Amino acid sequence: MRLFTPLRLSLVRAVMSETGYHIPVLLNEVLELLVTDVNGVYVDGTLGGGGHFRAIGQSVSEKATVIGIDRDQQALENFNKTGLSGISAKVIIERSRFSQFDSVLQNNGIDKVQGLFVDLGVSSRQIDEPERGFMYMKESALDMRMDSSAGLTAAELLEESRENDLAEILEKYGEIRNAKRMASVIKSYMKHNKILTSADLKACIVKEYGANVKIQVFAKLFQALRIAVNGELEELAVFLEKSVKYLAAGGRLAVISYHSLEDRMVKEFIRKAEEACECAPDIPVCKCKKQVLFKRVNRKAVIASDEEIKVNSRSRSARLRVARRTEALGVL
Ligand SMILES: C[S@@+](CC[C@H](N)C(=O)[O-])C[C@H]1O[C@@H](n2cnc3c(N)ncnc32)[C@H](O)[C@@H]1O
Repeated sequence: MRLFTPLRLSLVRAVMSETGYHIPVLLNEVLELLVTDVNGVYVDGTLGGGGHFRAIGQSVSEKATVIGIDRDQQALENFNKTGLSGISAKVIIERSRFSQFDSVLQNNGIDKVQGLFVDLGVSSRQIDEPERGFMYMKESALDMRMDSSAGLTAAELLEESRENDLAEILEKYGEIRNAKRMASVIKSYMKHNKILTSADLKACIVKEYGANVKIQVFAKLFQALRIAVNGELEELAVFLEKSVKYLAAGGRLAVISYHSLEDRMVKEFIRKAEEACECAPDIPVCKCKKQVLFKRVNRKAVIASDEEIKVNSRSRSARLRVARRTEALGVL
């Protein structure tokens, strides 16, 4: 799907300069595929710089409600400063994890929504701020928490996890080939050295694997730690499961993911949700009670155009999947 025209590209640039925080990825595609009812209720579970949120808010009527959620207090504070220009809909902004979006709905007396959207991962602002500890290119404290007030930092996770658990994290979340060896290298190094910063972690890896170790190794290692620190895959799994109950018939689920682990989860969730009754054809009455819960809106994931990638290299790995909640009430 190639939707980018010069006019739309200028919209992307305008959104970036308006917020100076993060360039929203696949913005026009999200709007076109997510917003089907201008009077509906829409949840953006990853507010970040508010690029998608603002655009969704501006494309619906004053009868609509737009709900923005982020677990990062700094993102909410920044958004509150940049304002809600051009939005006439009711706006609800809450600090929460998107896996808990149902609590936000309940607190506001809402039981069904027309759109649920998440743009996974971290924002450019979070990556660029050294004190957040997401960087591996520059020295920073190994924190990596999206919510700086909760849970273990990456440095604490390394300290507290046993070698086997660390190996599992590296293998599962970083798809690191010889994860057992890397976990053993890190834990042995930690017997005599502290790993508190990205530079400490890199020094440990370089000591064992040599100075020519590929940048991708660090990328995978940092990805694995970030996913573990923030429970990212668990968050996504719960969010997807809950979407079944809270999306109104015809409502849309839209997810942008940036790595194959997440994209696979979304793809698999939609595939399973599209499956109908599995009873043998000779059984007169369905016993499995399985119903089609979602229908995919696009056969393949939507990817960024070359034009968008030129303006925003982060969009290169983005995959947008959208599914429509079917009419029948699903088995929950
Ligand atoms: C890629 S950015 C979103 C950018 C946003 N769409 C925009 O246009 O500016 C992801 C944001 O989601 C937040 N986030 C990630 N996982 C979250 C979760 N499980 N619950 C709530 N917020 C989350 C991060 O803190 C970050 O601000």
